[in-house]
Amino acid sequence: MDLLLLEKTLLGSFVAVLVAIFVSKLRGKRFKLPPGPLPVPVFGNWLQVGDDLNHRNLADLARKFGDILLLRMGQRNLVVVSSPDLAKDVLHTQGVEFGSRTRNVVFDIFTGKGQDMVFTVYGEHWRKMRRIMTVPFFTNKVVQQYRYGWEDEAARVVEDVKKNPESATNGIVLRRRLQLMMYNNMYRIMFDRRFESEDDPLFNKLKALNGERSRLAQSFDYNYGDFIPILRPFLRGYLKICKEVKERRLQLFKDYFVEERKKLGSTKSMSNEGLKCAIDHILDAQKKGEINEDNVLYIVENINVAAIETTLWSIEWGIAELVNHPEIQKKLRDELDSELGPGHQITEPDTYKLPYLNAVIKETLRLRMAIPLLVPHMNLNDAKLGGFDIPAESKILVNAWWLANNPANWKNPEEFRPERFLEEEAKVEANGNDFRYLPFGVGRRSCPGIILALPILGITLGRLVQNFELLPPPGQSKIDTAEKGGQFSLHILKHSTIVAKPRSF
Ligand code: HEM
Repeated sequence: MDLLLLEKTLLGSFVAVLVAIFVSKLRGKRFKLPPGPLPVPVFGNWLQVGDDLNHRNLADLARKFGDILLLRMGQRNLVVVSSPDLAKDVLHTQGVEFGSRTRNVVFDIFTGKGQDMVFTVYGEHWRKMRRIMTVPFFTNKVVQQYRYGWEDEAARVVEDVKKNPESATNGIVLRRRLQLMMYNNMYRIMFDRRFESEDDPLFNKLKALNGERSRLAQSFDYNYGDFIPILRPFLRGYLKICKEVKERRLQLFKDYFVEERKKLGSTKSMSNEGLKCAIDHILDAQKKGEINEDNVLYIVENINVAAIETTLWSIEWGIAELVNHPEIQKKLRDELDSELGPGHQITEPDTYKLPYLNAVIKETLRLRMAIPLLVPHMNLNDAKLGGFDIPAESKILVNAWWLANNPANWKNPEEFRPERFLEEEAKVEANGNDFRYLPFGVGRRSCPGIILALPILGITLGRLVQNFELLPPPGQSKIDTAEKGGQFSLHILKHSTIVAKPRSF
């Protein structure tokens, strides 16, 4: 027998023994586990259900096994929740019990084992981080301070698109310019900084490292080492790349942004609260000894991922739907024209008096939910849910996309029809007032960024529709809206070319 085969056989036997011990432990406790496909030794259900546990595949499984189901992915327990009542139980009623996060081998690297806020367990550290981040990021005061910046960035997008002769003829990949806009929207809040153009070398370095981080974290390629710990040595190469990307990225945040801001702070009085940007508040917390330097960098890391990408994906989905539904685009433009008058460019306060614009945004977030399974939740201790036992440290996926797209709960959910939010679903808001519609989650671990995301979406989509007719490229009647899902993300697969024909006022 060659050495490799011997090694694999030994590994396999060892894993089989571990799983047998694990299963017998569960049985010993006489757990009443949720239904699910029959697991096989070592692999559990992994070989049956595969790697791509996206919102659609999980909805198929829910149809088969019910609103709560259990998948054994190697040694990991994964509980999928697919009804509004159970979602309420996880996120609200038992919000503390299910308020932690699972991490995996890769997220452990990118978050320094939960030294951040998004991926840390529910407890003291999370509470402190959320409190420290609230004043600089998540209040109406922040919106009022930075909305002029967002309006300015959107105006620059309009200007640049108009300047590009390709826009009105063959079309452009609008997303590229919008990505710069989203970085500027958030870097203005964080560091009072902006990047001048898509060619800015620092912007490109940052974009590349953030892109690499997302690709590595959202990929399914490392599942085997995560599900079956004994196989982890085979992940060594992958994890090494993750570590390198993480180091280079945090170093970049530190050298080019945090240290720069510190230098500025030491030469200029920061006594005027109005001039403070987010990092000044965060550094104050560090000076007081509430958090350490690593926590500061992980806050910057979290905002780079949680804020920029999710909002950009949602803008991109919104544009795709408007291009593919010209009648909806026209109706939105008519609302903007009649409510704001010709020539008045939409501002943040305007977004609240435009019901159709808000309906378009809600419908985009319903059909094309950026985080369709929420960020995975976890119970630190054994728990009960829907009459079943949930073993400690299970990964709990709330299929928020299915809650918002289940025909049992919505009229023709596959249709992009903003009118539903003015008619039969008029009372439903994006803040979680209805457990069928949770694009930002709800409860303790819900998205605090909703307060920024909604006005940014309104200003951006509003300005684009006010200033351009958005069309598919020549020779195409629609743009491709195929989806690309990750561990818990959903974005458009192809960054389409869009024709943006300037309107004359
Ligand atoms: C359209 C844009 C956005 C969408 C769809 C979105 C969605 C979500 C979702 C679904 C969660 C997880 C909720 C849960 O697990 O129960 C989340 C968490 C989070 N989001 Fe957002 N988000 C968006 C924009 C933002 C922005 C702009 C920021 C920051 C400025 C932000 C910061 C966060 C943070 C820090 C968390 C973690 C909260 C915690 O674990 O306590 N998000 N977001």
